[in-house]
Amino acid sequence: MNPLIIILFGAGFIYLVFQLISWTFGAGFESTRNKPLKTIIKFANPKPEEKITDLGSGSAKILLALKDSKAKLYGYEINPILVIISKIKTRKYKNIYIRWKNLWKADLKNFNTIIIFQFFHLMPRLEKKILKECKPGTKIISNTWKFPNLKPAKTEGKIRLYIVPKI
Ligand SMILES: C[S@@+](CC[C@H](N)C(=O)[O-])C[C@H]1O[C@@H](n2cnc3c(N)ncnc32)[C@H](O)[C@@H]1O
Repeated sequence: MNPLIIILFGAGFIYLVFQLISWTFGAGFESTRNKPLKTIIKFANPKPEEKITDLGSGSAKILLALKDSKAKLYGYEINPILVIISKIKTRKYKNIYIRWKNLWKADLKNFNTIIIFQFFHLMPRLEKKILKECKPGTKIISNTWKFPNLKPAKTEGKIRLYIVPKI
């Protein structure tokens, strides 16, 4: 068999295995598109020294879009291929930290803003985690999917901004 075909099949197989890991623990990889990204940046409105995380940071597109804000930007990503790609893409920026970590194990209490683009069936569990760990006033920006109980403070297209309430 042609070695190029073997390499292509091998790469495709490895990619599928890592997508399966993402699907097992959360959503598969899909990059946020440019129009919703503008809304995310507007809603995040980051200030220097704030801590912002993208839970399931994919290829670091959102973190890179926020890089000039001087906020501290944390990406948690379960797919090691995307972690390597993100580390390479963000290597010049001292305010971007990419972690190979399951988002369910991330401690959310110190973040000012949390960005998520996961999948509908995870939203109830994410809502519970956020309400348990986040300080009142924390901004949560969700691409596409709604929380079951929290009401958005703002909605623009598929992007919703939530503010963690005092309980
Ligand atoms: C829909 S993509 C969003 C990528 C990026 N946030 C963006 O908007 O461009 C979801 C990402 O979450 C990652 N993911 C899924 N489950 C995860 C988990 N339990 N912990 C960390 N990352 C996870 C996937 O590998 C994928 O890269």
